[in-house]
Amino acid sequence: MTDTARLPECNPDLLRSLFLFESLSDERLDYLCRHGEVVRVEPGWLYREGEDATCFYVLLDGLLVMSRNVDGDEVEVNRTSQRGVYVGAWTAYLGDLVPQVYDQSVRVTETSDFFQLDATVLRDVMRDWFPMAQHLLAGLFHGFTNRQRTIAQRERLLALGSLSAGLTHELNNPAAAAVRATSTLQQRVSKMREKLAALAAGHLDEAALQTLIKFQDEAAHRVANAPKLSAIESADREDELAEWLEDHEVARGYEIAPTFVQGGIDPDWLELVANAAPADSLAGAIHWLYYTIDTELLMKEITDSTSRISSLVEAAKQYSQMDRSPFQTVDLHDLLDSTLVMLARKIPPGVKVVKHYDESLPPVPSYAAELNQVWTNLIDNALQAMGDTGTLTISTHADDEFATVLIADTGPGIPDDIKDRIFDPFFTTKPIGQGTGLGLDIAWRIVVNKHRGYLKVKSQPGETVFVVRLPVDGPQIGETT
Ligand SMILES: Nc1ncnc2c1ncn2[C@@H]1O[C@H](COP(=O)(O)OP(=O)(O)O)[C@@H](O)[C@H]1O
Ligand SMILES: [Mg+2]
Repeated sequence: MTDTARLPECNPDLLRSLFLFESLSDERLDYLCRHGEVVRVEPGWLYREGEDATCFYVLLDGLLVMSRNVDGDEVEVNRTSQRGVYVGAWTAYLGDLVPQVYDQSVRVTETSDFFQLDATVLRDVMRDWFPMAQHLLAGLFHGFTNRQRTIAQRERLLALGSLSAGLTHELNNPAAAAVRATSTLQQRVSKMREKLAALAAGHLDEAALQTLIKFQDEAAHRVANAPKLSAIESADREDELAEWLEDHEVARGYEIAPTFVQGGIDPDWLELVANAAPADSLAGAIHWLYYTIDTELLMKEITDSTSRISSLVEAAKQYSQMDRSPFQTVDLHDLLDSTLVMLARKIPPGVKVVKHYDESLPPVPSYAAELNQVWTNLIDNALQAMGDTGTLTISTHADDEFATVLIADTGPGIPDDIKDRIFDPFFTTKPIGQGTGLGLDIAWRIVVNKHRGYLKVKSQPGETVFVVRLPVDGPQIGETT
């Protein structure tokens, strides 16, 4: 089209030639002409994505290009010179149901003519002329968003339910162990008292008793530093120790040997005791030391179990961000670690977890509990993709603008033909009951909409990496939910 061509005048025939208006009466077409206008647009932007949607355009002549901002790049989504194509504020009739902003950018690459209508005029004529269609469209739209919200909420509750079931189980083991150890400890302590009384009533002089107490201290010290042994190593040492005990006529040798081994005691050390204790008190002394070691081991077990309980509770608090404000500056590593603790039970023994954390990662202002939801969804998918074996790698790094978290798995990858759809709500390749198709949709909303970050995937067979990039300065203004 040349710049010199005359701008067409708006009249019912002109509008009727556009498919959108083909069935309208002359009267209505005339109304549109009076409330709209034919405009000529020079090459350049017609409007930009995110601006308030104030106008509706129908192409009469020319060429338009639609594009969307994807991860900071302007990506062309359509290019057309088809007469009658409409762009702009076309959801004006939904009123407050949707944010009335342009959902893409449009530019013309040559001088182009449009029929232009104010969004408010379009909204009003839709309401007045097609009330039923308007209600149906709004209903359709409303139904869809509602359904999505309800299911997303349910998905979150289900995830939380399965996590808390896992956590209860995790807590149960150390709690039961601590209770068991405490009750055994009570018995052992009273036995030890008896033994000490028996020893003291024997032929031990004060010096020998002092020496034994020195050995007791040493035994306790050995327990604290006992090396962890393999089953085979333990069995060998137990045999060796039991033999020594039999040779020295200490009763129940095979019964008490494992405790000595677990406490890091060897025959050489027992030999020192034998040299220091009078021969007729040796068995009593050894048994007394046995109770000492046993009590130390039990106390160690209680300490381990209770600290495991505290660390689980700490992780659960960190994960849920209980008692904390929803928006705060957090260490992403803490979030990732607490998520891994919460998911521990879902990680099969054949899946290795590798962490490459960049220690220079700055704390990031964020909606922490929601980010945990993101890690949970991504790790869940990775674990489901890998099945029983593979490697889950969680890495982080930072630059001036973004904190980046990568969640990688060694599963089969995402086929090219579905890569574009995995972030869509309800898109799933999993059987009913296993997948809702909302995991990535939720992750997208949290990362992209709420934090103004990026969420990308790179995938090939054997390696799938989800990349989450969060602005280190926080989401800034203009965030939406
Ligand atoms: N790590 C991954 N490896 C392979 N495919 C994946 C991975 N993550 C997501 N997908 C694919 O994306 C789809 C959508 O994921 P998601 O939104 O979490 O829903 P769901 O897990 O309920 O199916 C999955 O069904 C799967 O096909
Ligand atoms: Mg999922």
